[in-house]
Amino acid sequence: MRDINRRFACVDDMQAEAARRMPRFVHDYLIGGLGRESAVRRNLSDLQEVQLLPRYLSEADRPDMSATLFGKTYAAPFAVAPLGLAGLLWPGCEVPVARAAAAHDIPHVLSTFANRSMETIGPIVGENGWFQFYPPNDPAMEADMIRRAARAGYRTLVLTVDIPAPTRRERDIRNGMSVPPILDMRTLWQIATHPQWARHVLRHGIPDFENLSPYYPAGGSLRQSAQFVGRVMQGHIGREHFARLREAWKGQLLVKGVLDVGEAAQYLSLGADGLIVSNHGGRQLDAAPTAVSMLPAMRRELGAEAIILADGGVRSGLDVARMLALGANLVLIGRPFVFASAAIGADGGQHLISILKAELFATMAQLGCNSVGELPSFLYRGGQA
Ligand SMILES: Cc1cc2nc3c(=O)[nH]c(=O)nc-3n(C[C@H](O)[C@H](O)[C@H](O)COP(=O)(O)O)c2cc1C
Repeated sequence: MRDINRRFACVDDMQAEAARRMPRFVHDYLIGGLGRESAVRRNLSDLQEVQLLPRYLSEADRPDMSATLFGKTYAAPFAVAPLGLAGLLWPGCEVPVARAAAAHDIPHVLSTFANRSMETIGPIVGENGWFQFYPPNDPAMEADMIRRAARAGYRTLVLTVDIPAPTRRERDIRNGMSVPPILDMRTLWQIATHPQWARHVLRHGIPDFENLSPYYPAGGSLRQSAQFVGRVMQGHIGREHFARLREAWKGQLLVKGVLDVGEAAQYLSLGADGLIVSNHGGRQLDAAPTAVSMLPAMRRELGAEAIILADGGVRSGLDVARMLALGANLVLIGRPFVFASAAIGADGGQHLISILKAELFATMAQLGCNSVGELPSFLYRGGQA
């Protein structure tokens, strides 16, 4: 354990090792955005600009990091974000990350495009599990997936609304990154020169979209199945569709991918229980603003009681504190869970969560902050502090 702590003291250390261990075409898929990747960079840089003002008279030696959402208290105010194809990025990572989230008592969001099914992950994460839903444009399949999620034990549905149309991610186009990947000399060479990744594929098998495989046309190839997924998972979720989903899902409903304040208010008035302010890790629209830039207005307009989560660029416990100071109730963290799994293996998720907790604890203690709800009072607003 001492060895892991010294080798991987922070997310950057894990990211550097992951870059060495992952073949380029999967690593590019993980880290990339689209266009000039300004939104990916802005997610990181906007957050680094957020300053917090410490105060030393208050006694906060044992800060309380717990966060309560929908009546459940979690040990820390951050969650594992949904990551499609995580089982291809680092084969076999999904079950250990889910176990780590449950053991550390933080929320775990399983993607519709995960490689392990809700029936497998649901029982592992129990009450800490949320299911991320991309509704298909086939009502019978949609109804069945909602029933399955409830049966698998999920009580919170995260409805992602920000992938209405296929995007052009140039790195993936150049790399031939598709499902299945194009196996030309270049990709085969990348696989051959990254034996740890290749060994994991051999051990865990070629990953499939397990949440969607029950609906594949019978007898098709992996390519035909992927084409089917691409076809059924397209289109905007309009008001009528949203109302139908709200009616069908009896648990809590969070809408993920909201950036516009006016639209956020509309989702709430249409029955959403909360929002996740997100630009999808900078992967959908290169001109999209960051959660950091939208959060203060969201909180101001929607009020103190609204449930507002956020993500994009969170790489440390300090970054968690920054997002909370800007007004989020809880944040989601995506890419770092793959960095950790690739760098460390099955213990990666648990190591990452331990570090994030330790960093957040140290940040709160340094600020003089007793509870996560107090963090907004430590936001430094420059001249007007
Ligand atoms: C490889 C990858 C796959 C993703 N897949 C999904 C997904 O299936 N569903 C979803 O709602 N968001 C998905 N996202 C977005 C993340 O949930 C999250 O919003 C984003 O990664 C947060 O930014 P961060 O990676 O900087 O923490 C994905 C992001 C990445 C990097």
